Amino acid sequence: MMHDSVITSALTVMLSALLLTLGALFILYRIMRTPKPGSSIPKAPSGEHEALLALFVGVLVPAGILLYALRFSPYATLTPDAMHGISAAPSENRSDAELLQMGKSLFGVHCAVCHGPDGNAPGGKGANLTHRISFDSALLNIRRGAHNFKRTFPGGMPPMIADIDRAAQVAHYVSSGFTENERGELLYRMLKCERCHGPDGRGKQFLGPNIREFDLQTVALVLKNGKNGVIGKMPRFEHFTDEEGRALGLYVMGLSETPQ
Ligand code: HEC
Ligand code: HEC
Repeated sequence: MMHDSVITSALTVMLSALLLTLGALFILYRIMRTPKPGSSIPKAPSGEHEALLALFVGVLVPAGILLYALRFSPYATLTPDAMHGISAAPSENRSDAELLQMGKSLFGVHCAVCHGPDGNAPGGKGANLTHRISFDSALLNIRRGAHNFKRTFPGGMPPMIADIDRAAQVAHYVSSGFTENERGELLYRMLKCERCHGPDGRGKQFLGPNIREFDLQTVALVLKNGKNGVIGKMPRFEHFTDEEGRALGLYVMGLSETPQ
C-alpha cells in the first residue's frame, strides 16, 4: 500500500506546480499588457501595485499551499494504512474506552437495523457479528470463491474445492474459530489455505483476510467495500472518518469476544 502515499505526495506537488505555472503565466500576462515606453496609451499608475498583487496571488499563495501540504497537512503524517481507514496507531484524542462508546452509538444508528442492537442479527438481515464467520458463509466462499475486496486482495479467493464433504469439514474448522474438526484442520493445510490466510488464519497482506477473528482491518474492509454473500448484501459505508471506522472496528471486535 506504500504506493498510495507516494501518489498523494506526487499529486500535491503536481497541483502546486500547476498553481505556480498559472501564477507565472498571470505575471507574464501583466507584463505584456504593460504598455511599452513611447506607446500612445498612458501607463496605468497602479501598474506596480498590480504586479505586486500578481506576485502575491500567483507565487506566494501556491508556494504557501505547497509548504503546508508537504509539512503540516494531515496527509504529511498519515500512514498509508490510516488513509484507508485502517489505522493501527491509537487515536491521539480519544481513549479506546471512549472509542468503544462512540462505536456503540454509531452501530445503533447505522448497523443495528440489519445486525440487531447486540450484533447477533436476530432478524437474519445481516451477518451474526458475535462470530467471525458462519458455517454457511465459509462453505460458500470455499466452494465458489469471492471477490469483494479486489483493491486490497487483488487475487481474490479462487474456488478452492468442489468436493462438498471435504469443503464442509474445512468450513466447520474455520467457522468454529479454528478449534473443532481435526480432519478440517488437516485439510486446511493440505489444500494450502495457509498460503493466503496464514497457518493460524489471521491473514496475510495482499493475499487474504483474517478469517479467524475480527480485526480493525477486516471491519474497515467490509465498511469500505460492502459485502455480498450467502446472507445477502451489505451496503458500502464510505463516509465514516478514520476515527469512526476505528470505533466501529473496536465495537465489532468486542461483540465477538462475548458470544451469546
Ligand atoms: C490465493 C489466495 C487464497 C487461498 C489459497 C485461499 N483463500 Fe480464502 N480468501 C482469499 C481472499 C483474497 C479472500 C477475500 C475474498 C474477497 O475479496 O471477498 C478470502 C476469503 C475467504 C473466506 C471468507 C472470509 C469472509 O470474510 O467472508 C473464507 C472462509 C476463506 N477464504 C477460507 C479459505 C479456506 C478454508 C481456504 C483453503 C481451502 C482458502 N480460503 C484458500 C484468498 C485465498
Ligand atoms: C442493509 C443491511 C446492513 C447494514 C445496514 C449493515 N450491514 Fe453489515 N452485513 C450485512 C449483510 C447481509 C452481511 C453479510 C454478507 C454476507 O452474506 O457475507 C454483513 C456483513 C458484515 C460484516 C462481515 C461479517 C462476515 O461474515 O465477514 C461486518 C463486519 C459488518 N457487516 C459490519 C457492519 C457495520 C459495522 C455496519 C454499520 C456501519 C453494518 N454492517 C451495516 C448487512 C448490513
